[in-house]
Amino acid sequence: MYRIAVLPGDGIGPEVMASALKVLKHVMGQENQAFEVLEAPIGGEAYDAYQNHFPASTKQVCEQADAILLGSIGGPANERHLPKWDRCEANALLGLRKAFNFYANIRPARVYAPLKYACPLKDEIIGNGVDLVIVRELLGDLYFGKHETKSSDRGAIAIDEAVYDEQQIRAICRIALETAANRTGKLTSIDKANVLDTSKLWRKIVSEEAEKYPDVALSHLLVDNAAMQLVIKPDQFDVLLCPNMFGDILSDLASVLPGSLGMVPSASFNDKRKGLYEPAGGSAPDIAGKGIANPCAQILCVAMMLRHSFKMEKEAKLIETSLEKCFEQGFVTGDLSRGGKSLSTSEFTDKVIAQINETDAR
Ligand code: NAD
Ligand code: IPM
Ligand code: MN
Repeated sequence: MYRIAVLPGDGIGPEVMASALKVLKHVMGQENQAFEVLEAPIGGEAYDAYQNHFPASTKQVCEQADAILLGSIGGPANERHLPKWDRCEANALLGLRKAFNFYANIRPARVYAPLKYACPLKDEIIGNGVDLVIVRELLGDLYFGKHETKSSDRGAIAIDEAVYDEQQIRAICRIALETAANRTGKLTSIDKANVLDTSKLWRKIVSEEAEKYPDVALSHLLVDNAAMQLVIKPDQFDVLLCPNMFGDILSDLASVLPGSLGMVPSASFNDKRKGLYEPAGGSAPDIAGKGIANPCAQILCVAMMLRHSFKMEKEAKLIETSLEKCFEQGFVTGDLSRGGKSLSTSEFTDKVIAQINETDAR
């Protein structure tokens, strides 16, 4: 019996979560695998019920679960002044990551052959395809240093402190080296070592750790150059190892490769290999409530959860190949449409389920 904490969250979160759960139930049902969904509120919804974006009861549910499936967090930008949305992402999302020590974030991005048209890069730049993984450190850097706004004789001053310690860098580096060793053996470490002390330490420690992996070819790249290289020659990359802030930005940049942020899942792990699975994108207030969100990232989160938390490789693959077969047949949501017919979130989900049935029956 697997226990899954399901936290749909805000905006499109509940919409794409409904799709992902439908796919999960279908795949697991066919395999007669028992699992239990423990649903709990987080973000704006939790604030309404408990005046807390990440209530203790939700944390407890996550503690009891073998894996956590998260939708997205954050409200409409124009309501940010309301208490409900103030510090919502910091309290809920960063609170959840911190509470379980989810320090290693894995964000795969690739160009699916049938969706090449949706990638804004030219065909000659995409070449034979792009398939990369961003390994992002999730608990250090600017995110968890001291944040302060104070007044001075020159008006207000805001300070955000970036902090990395050696152990944090070693831990994420080992994950990146393992990931690279299991792929093509190519690892690019991203930093800003020409300016930042945190980056100088990052580069030193990463180089030391990489010596223990002679089969992995390590190179270092400054983050500004990396942003450019991702656009002009993305197929040079396999695994990118990033500090928290640069990984956040580069993973949105890499999300243009599959054609939409709605295509990029992510998995975060702690030392006990407990997993938190969430789309790389956010609550998408611009399309929330319309039933048109792309559920692929959330569905791919389910595949990642089955693979990494439950060792159900066959079921994970079944989901991934069924999605690809949908793309081959031209079934896509509006964000990936070429002007032809696009499917709603639930129509697309039904196509995925039909494809799972067909693939499984063969
Ligand atoms: P966003 O990622 O929500 O959206 C950026 C763009 O991508 C929008 O145009 C949106 O419509 C599109 N998009 C994202 N997911 C999509 C999907 N599944 N299908 C189709 N289109 C999709 O970023 P934003 O608008 O800058 O942020 C909105 C809120 O989400 C903010 O409060 C932000 O802090 C939060 N956020 C949360 C997470 C998270 O929960 N993990 C991640 C990123 C941003
Ligand atoms: C992400 C998001 C979060 C982050 C925000 C919402 C706190 O952008 O998961 O990429 O910066 O980590
Ligand atoms: Mn982000």
